[in-house]
Amino acid sequence: MSRPVIPIRVDTAPPRDRRARALTDLRISVIDRCNFRCPYCMPEEDYPRDHEFLSKAQRLRFEEVERLVGVFAGLGVRKLRLTGGEPLLRRDLPELVRRLAAVPGIDDIAMTTNGALLPMHAKALREAGLGRITLSVDSLDSKTYRELSGGRGEVDDVFAAIESARDAGFGPLKINCVVMRGINDHEVPDLVARFRGTGHILRFIEYMDVGTCNAWRHERVVPSADLRTSIAARWPLRALSANYGSEVAQRWALADGSAEIGFISSVSEPFCGDCTRARLSADGRLYTCLFASSGHDLRGPLRAGATDAELAGLVGAVWTARGDRYSEIRGAAEAMPRRHVEMYEIGG
Ligand code: GTP
Ligand code: 5AD
Ligand code: SF4
Ligand code: SF4
Repeated sequence: MSRPVIPIRVDTAPPRDRRARALTDLRISVIDRCNFRCPYCMPEEDYPRDHEFLSKAQRLRFEEVERLVGVFAGLGVRKLRLTGGEPLLRRDLPELVRRLAAVPGIDDIAMTTNGALLPMHAKALREAGLGRITLSVDSLDSKTYRELSGGRGEVDDVFAAIESARDAGFGPLKINCVVMRGINDHEVPDLVARFRGTGHILRFIEYMDVGTCNAWRHERVVPSADLRTSIAARWPLRALSANYGSEVAQRWALADGSAEIGFISSVSEPFCGDCTRARLSADGRLYTCLFASSGHDLRGPLRAGATDAELAGLVGAVWTARGDRYSEIRGAAEAMPRRHVEMYEIGG
């Protein structure tokens, strides 16, 4: 969808962090709840049905998100990604998309979802201006899929979700698969076979040690290089260039042109050097890294009446002080202490 070119008001010079990285992408968690309990993110035993998530009053209202996005756009943000928890659990999400699509400077709005609720919302989201959708498919096997969603999801539903996105007019989707050794790594060729010829982009993500409760072990990580070797034994691969500088996935194509495959190798080949991503939690905290131990409160100043210029000054100061590069120093003493924000609080 092409948008009119609108002059962007830059309130402050776009900030650079301590490693000269700009701030161009904002990932917004709209809700911390989820209808799944993936063991690598929100294990059922730690998050039973009566777990207390953020209350409505604690969550940013749509007009507050909209205002903050205006401030971020003034500092250089061009891309937004809506995440959760599960973003489709946030009521009236298309209304938020509509507001964000109208913010001057924002030229890409995407959403990451588990898909279970997508058929109900795809059309309204498209009409509201959502540009792209990324869906998680960790397994094609109904038993494994069920286990990897904590007993709450069905693999057939995710394929219905993919169809609903196409029917609503979305282009090719990105399909994320977190690969864990001994759990779903044997399914990698089946996943490639299943998505070949569909136009969707399948991405294999190395299992990461995000959060505090996912029982991560290094032995469970399958390096992308190994996956590439096993895929190439059946379907020769050719490298594709990145779409943009800070892209997290390395892009490859099956040489016969039948599919694009991405590898997100944050454990074996960290990409912190190009990390231009900030994350906003549903309660208005700004996180400068997926592995941060704490966030910077923006909701307090916002609700206390801060002006846009004051908010921009605050965000700019946080970004300028940023030195994060967790994936590059994982395992080193520097990476400690181990309190990390949970994945479902900032959406991956
Ligand atoms: P586009 O390139 O805009 O399509 O989005 P994306 O690929 O950045 O978004 P997506 O949410 O699909 O990212 C895929 C996965 O990569 C996430 O679920 C995370 O597991 C991982 N990821 C994304 N950003 C980061 C990051 O900054 N650091 C690390 N370590 N992992 C990340
Ligand atoms: N390691 C890698 N990716 C993860 N995701 C969630 N937890 C992890 C983890 N521990 C991914 C999901 C989804 C996105 C929200 O984050 O699979 O694609
Ligand atoms: Fe929910 Fe996504 Fe976390 Fe799974 S990975 S529990 S779908 S937020
Ligand atoms: Fe960015 Fe932190 Fe991920 Fe490195 S580990 S790419 S700094 S979010």
